[in-house]
Amino acid sequence: MKVNGKHYRSLWWDSEQNCLQIIDQRWLPHDFRIQPVRTMEEFSDAIVEMRVRGAPLIGATAAYGMALAMANDASDNNLDAAWTFLEKTRPTAINLRWALDRCRTALKPLPVVERAEAALKLAHAISDEDVEINRRIGENGLKLIEEIAANKPNGEPVRLLTHCNAGWIATVDWGTATSPMYQAHNAGIPLHVWVDETRPRNQGALTSWELGSHGVPHTYITDNAGGHLMQHGQVDMVIVGTDRTTRRGDVCNKIGTYLKALAARDNNVPFYVALPSPTIDWTVDDGVAEIPIEERSERETTHIQGKAETGGFGVVQVTPDGTAGGNPAFDVTPNRLVTGLITERGICKASPEGLASLFPEMTQAAE
Ligand code: MRU
Repeated sequence: MKVNGKHYRSLWWDSEQNCLQIIDQRWLPHDFRIQPVRTMEEFSDAIVEMRVRGAPLIGATAAYGMALAMANDASDNNLDAAWTFLEKTRPTAINLRWALDRCRTALKPLPVVERAEAALKLAHAISDEDVEINRRIGENGLKLIEEIAANKPNGEPVRLLTHCNAGWIATVDWGTATSPMYQAHNAGIPLHVWVDETRPRNQGALTSWELGSHGVPHTYITDNAGGHLMQHGQVDMVIVGTDRTTRRGDVCNKIGTYLKALAARDNNVPFYVALPSPTIDWTVDDGVAEIPIEERSERETTHIQGKAETGGFGVVQVTPDGTAGGNPAFDVTPNRLVTGLITERGICKASPEGLASLFPEMTQAAE
């Protein structure tokens, strides 16, 4: 998508410098900084510190990490060591492990001398596929927005609510939850997006930056406002992303998503999840019981970073000295609260049968 009129992906391979280039998201929305990633330690740091973030993007980043590892030393030992080193960076989003598994499975049978080139090609392929998957999610989600728009009087906007940032910078391009929004906006459908701030990391500010850059009308709201807006008929549909969806359709996404799903159900607001297929964990059924939830630093809850009114960046403490902070980064929304899953192959029910109808080869493989 575009930043100041220039098209970017959220990462790209720099063949002149022989390194990965990323947008360092820790400085957004205030500063657009591009950062080279050249060593395995820098790959790990980029994912752990959330310079890159969002399930599909950390998967693509990990694939480039495997490519670097193979360029350094393409032995079997190093292939396994790189898998382990990168896999431990973040535990919840399954795309990370999906990408690492895909790389290891493809590279292991190859002669050692061929692995470096093949790994880089595979990382490019994973990135390109992500863009195409998200574009198709947008096409499929657009149909839902068109239906709502068709029933609006006098061209009133379709009012969407989203949580966290499931936008183009959380993927390689387009985003998942935002892809239908961008495609609807491009098709001339009037939209208004309620953007949850998403404490503690305020990914809603990233979503606001994205939507603002593309001229999509939106309002940044506190995390606690969504239920009130739904009660007052101001939300037509919720669309969120996911970090891991189980084979029965339980959805693990940024902390607070579950509360939005409860409020949506209580107010008959459709609650949709934009779901690229690499985010499905076919080995897991019960999301609440089985998905590991990342616990992040308490400092993310007790301190907050932003642009100072006097200029520059600042970090301020919001709690009394010594207050303990708890920071589970994700929660699970059970399938019964999800109206539908918007995938690259179409929209289905959040159920084992729904997912099996779109991905029969995966369920057959699991049998
Ligand atoms: O902790 P983050 O910022 O990596 O969490 C991101 C999310 O929860 C997104 O909603 C999810 O990864 C889907 S991104 C298309």
